[in-house]
Amino acid sequence: MADGLTSGTAVPGGHALGGHAPGGHAPGGHAPEVLAPEVLAPEVLALTGLSWSVGGSAILSGVDLAVGEGEFVAVIGPNGAGKTSLFNLISGLTRATAGRIVLDGADITTEAPHKRARRGVGRTFQSSSVFPTMTVAEHVALAQQVAAKRRGRTLATDALEHVRLAEKSEVHACDLSHGDKRKLELAMLLASGAERLLLLDEPMAGVASGDVPELVDVIRALHQDEHRTILMVEHHMEVLLGLADRVAVLHHGALLAIDTPERVMADERVQEAYVGDSL
Ligand SMILES: Nc1ncnc2c1ncn2[C@@H]1O[C@H](COP(=O)(O)OP(=O)(O)OP(=O)(O)O)[C@@H](O)[C@H]1O
Ligand SMILES: [Mg+2]
Repeated sequence: MADGLTSGTAVPGGHALGGHAPGGHAPGGHAPEVLAPEVLAPEVLALTGLSWSVGGSAILSGVDLAVGEGEFVAVIGPNGAGKTSLFNLISGLTRATAGRIVLDGADITTEAPHKRARRGVGRTFQSSSVFPTMTVAEHVALAQQVAAKRRGRTLATDALEHVRLAEKSEVHACDLSHGDKRKLELAMLLASGAERLLLLDEPMAGVASGDVPELVDVIRALHQDEHRTILMVEHHMEVLLGLADRVAVLHHGALLAIDTPERVMADERVQEAYVGDSL
């Protein structure tokens, strides 16, 4: 599934964690007006020592990661590294066995999934999940209905415009290409009021290669034009160049590296992790 990482010069990427905002750190001591706004972006999500064990086996161990407002962080890692498990913890599908999850300054570590959704956390799943006999418009209307009282929800029609599906609003989901099903899932997230954090688990999985660029464009626009904060699992490193601000690498349930896509691709430890797992 995972494409090979291009080789390059190793850089001391390392275990730099925490709340780097997009664009990196500004030099200290400058007056606020010379700082790029994104540098001052508050943390939307902060994970501290996040761990999850099942039956004595550690699936995730001590993950520290912060995502700034409007930032796009990709999560990569060999199969079984714990990427989906991480999303399960953040969305509340499973409960952390240690560590903390803070969203917009509030500790949500033990909060129920629906409460996290109300705070604006939305996720898509690794497998596409749409109702075959419902139309595109019906899906988005349903998502909007679920979030009727939620602030920040995007109008159904706007959501379809954002994902470039407006012209297919009367098409049944069973007649959509896999790429369009993925776009529909994104539209549902927008309509459901997931305005604080989008968790996208391999949105490109199963999508025909010819449809990938369009889907990447849609996701890029959500980030760059709509300023959405995005955490996305993706195996194709080349997709992440020019898309993600930072890439976090999970390996055997621990964070191996977090840095720009270019530096991560050149990180020997990351390359070894992939080769070691025969990917
Ligand atoms: N509910 C569970 N009970 C026990 N083990 C689990 C459970 N869920 C996941 N695991 C194990 O945790 C590890 C990480 O799984 P996870 O699905 O998070 O990996 P992933 O990085 O998303 O992999 P992939 O790239 O294949 O999607 C795997 O070894 C998996 O078998
Ligand atoms: Mg997974």
